[in-house]
Amino acid sequence: MSRLSGDTATGKSSKRSTSTGKSSENALRRETVGIDDISVYIPKLYLPVTGEFAASRGIDPAKLTRGIGIERMAVPDVHEDAATMAAMSLLELMRRANLKPEEIGKIYVGTESAVDEAKALGTYVIGMLEQVYGAGSFQDCATVEFKSACIGTTQALEALSYWAAAEEEDKVGVVIASDVAKYPLRSAGEYTQGAGSVSLLVKKNPRLIALEGIFGSFTRDENDFFRPLGATTAVVNGKHSNQCYLDAMQGAFDAFAAKARRKGVIVPKEGECVTDFFSHLLFHIPYPRMVEYASAAIFEHYWQGQARWKEVEAEIGAEPKPGDYESPDKFQAAKSDYSRQFAKSKHFLDAFKSKVLDTTSISRLVGNIYTGSIYLGLASLIEQERVKSGDRLCFGAYGSGCSALVFSGLVQSDAASVPKRDLFQRLERRTQIPLADYERLHEGLKEKSIIAPSQEFALTEIDHQGYRHYGWIG
Ligand code: COA
Repeated sequence: MSRLSGDTATGKSSKRSTSTGKSSENALRRETVGIDDISVYIPKLYLPVTGEFAASRGIDPAKLTRGIGIERMAVPDVHEDAATMAAMSLLELMRRANLKPEEIGKIYVGTESAVDEAKALGTYVIGMLEQVYGAGSFQDCATVEFKSACIGTTQALEALSYWAAAEEEDKVGVVIASDVAKYPLRSAGEYTQGAGSVSLLVKKNPRLIALEGIFGSFTRDENDFFRPLGATTAVVNGKHSNQCYLDAMQGAFDAFAAKARRKGVIVPKEGECVTDFFSHLLFHIPYPRMVEYASAAIFEHYWQGQARWKEVEAEIGAEPKPGDYESPDKFQAAKSDYSRQFAKSKHFLDAFKSKVLDTTSISRLVGNIYTGSIYLGLASLIEQERVKSGDRLCFGAYGSGCSALVFSGLVQSDAASVPKRDLFQRLERRTQIPLADYERLHEGLKEKSIIAPSQEFALTEIDHQGYRHYGWIG
């Protein structure tokens, strides 16, 4: 990653930024490392959450489209799992970047939907890719699986960025996120499901995003979400998981802000705060509404004490003070209510619309893809042409259990030269399935694929020992 900040990492002058896109002073560094390209694979089947689904579950559709922020959920077909989806997004990445197997030094896979308790998902992926590129073509490539709920891919990206910075043979690395987000039928988690894979090409002098080398972490042992061994669906304490997400994000954001200041990369002046330095903030998207909660919490925290807070107070009144309440509980309740008012304020909604909302556009149509969701947010911004050279992006990843990782990156001057993926058009071409098919797929009761695989990787057999066989179906 780059230790440069501001314009230097975008290949411009050595003056550095004090806010987004402007310049400031900082240390020099020779080469940048970051994300050169991104590919996305989403299954061809989807279930709308309005209509049949909402009616059968007795839920007001407006709760799902507004309260949760979801319209459609991607559904994997019989022949699909985390391994096939990962192979599909990697194949697309390699074709987009004209990448040969021998050029890839590492494949790090983030997943919490592993198909095996021991064997790494990346080995299945390599087995599939070798059916296209030739036996043994990936034998020099190392692969490992990162399991840490929805943060696994981001932990993998951080680790791979250090490797890429040290790599001396011009090899590149790939980070793959691949997951099936699955909760029990008729549970509150059911409308936050989805499936898909994202692959990131990580290398020196990337065309898309140079990482700034500042990672802020937060970790705490929690039972907000877990999947016991052998279970296919997660156990989730939903409201608690929302709170863990917010706590961890705040902790990681504070750690990031302190590090960025120590390194002289982001040094807010009088009247500035850390969020001003970002053109866009990308948060983990378990469901789009969660991103609104996270942004409101982060903006409220950093705006307090700033001159602009007077304007917020003019709109929603003064913050509650402990002395005005008879008990700590009543004070807490008043604070929560005040935060809800802040989340509806014009000041917040303006910032949310310009810096965050567009990260959720694809997720509204796909649902949760767990560890890849935050990078689906990145693809969403890119596909909508919302990023431009010199923009500083903030990434806030969250993984249940729980941990958060906040880091920043600078959009590079070559970013516009990276071809688009036509993701929105591709999502429109998917096939809608009826509720009955979704339920049978969910429960593993369907034996034949709804759409017979063609020009794709497929799970072809699970043999008598339980070994999974995959093939390229031409
Ligand atoms: N129209 C519009 N909005 C409505 C509504 C309606 N008819 N009915 C409810 N809502 C709103 C609620 O007011 C709430 O919004 P608010 O927070 O602004 O008040 C929102 O919809 C969510 O509804 P709520 O009843 O509070 O939550 P839920 O019981 O549906 O659970 C999750 C939501 C996310 C906790 C649940 O789906 C879940 O457990 N998901 C899996 C875990 C997860 O994704 N965790 C996130 C952190 S990793």
